[in-house]
Amino acid sequence: MNTNRLSKKLTAALNVQMTNEAYASQIYLSYAAWAESEGCRGIANFLFRHAQEERNHMMKILEYILKRGAKVQVASILEPPENPASINNCFEKVFEHETDNTKAIYKLVKMSLDEEDWASWNFMQWFVKEQIEEETFAMGLLDKMKIAGGEKVSGDALYELDRDLEKTLGEVRSAQDVTTDKP
Ligand code: FEO
Repeated sequence: MNTNRLSKKLTAALNVQMTNEAYASQIYLSYAAWAESEGCRGIANFLFRHAQEERNHMMKILEYILKRGAKVQVASILEPPENPASINNCFEKVFEHETDNTKAIYKLVKMSLDEEDWASWNFMQWFVKEQIEEETFAMGLLDKMKIAGGEKVSGDALYELDRDLEKTLGEVRSAQDVTTDKP
């Protein structure tokens, strides 16, 4: 008996998005390691935690595909892009990655709608909401950086920003708390 309730097209697209989330995790991981080597521990911690969140997003999709009786295809992940040129550039790249990811999520929402797959449409709403938060968080980083001087940030201002991000860690959802059961 066939228990698969996902179309071939949606299964393929969800598998691609699962890999996109894994790729996003690698990007954050590489930027975090870079920030740490630049001496910005607060920023690095922030990015390390986000790498974990992206991995949780990947797992959430993986579990959904399995729940619908379809096949998961674990694929290879691209290498993360080159290190950012500066902290300002790092935050710009983070914002771009997030807006690109939102577009990918919207495509899945549209596909679910076109197929009248309401379970998938409903599942994707979590990601729509999540992307609002992700973009807001990325915009917040850019705003902080702008106030600190953007590309012309002084050593003192960068130090303050780094400490500020370290202090706000408590307000950011802990990656460990964001599981597929407790999104
Ligand atoms: Fe999983 Fe940052 O989006």
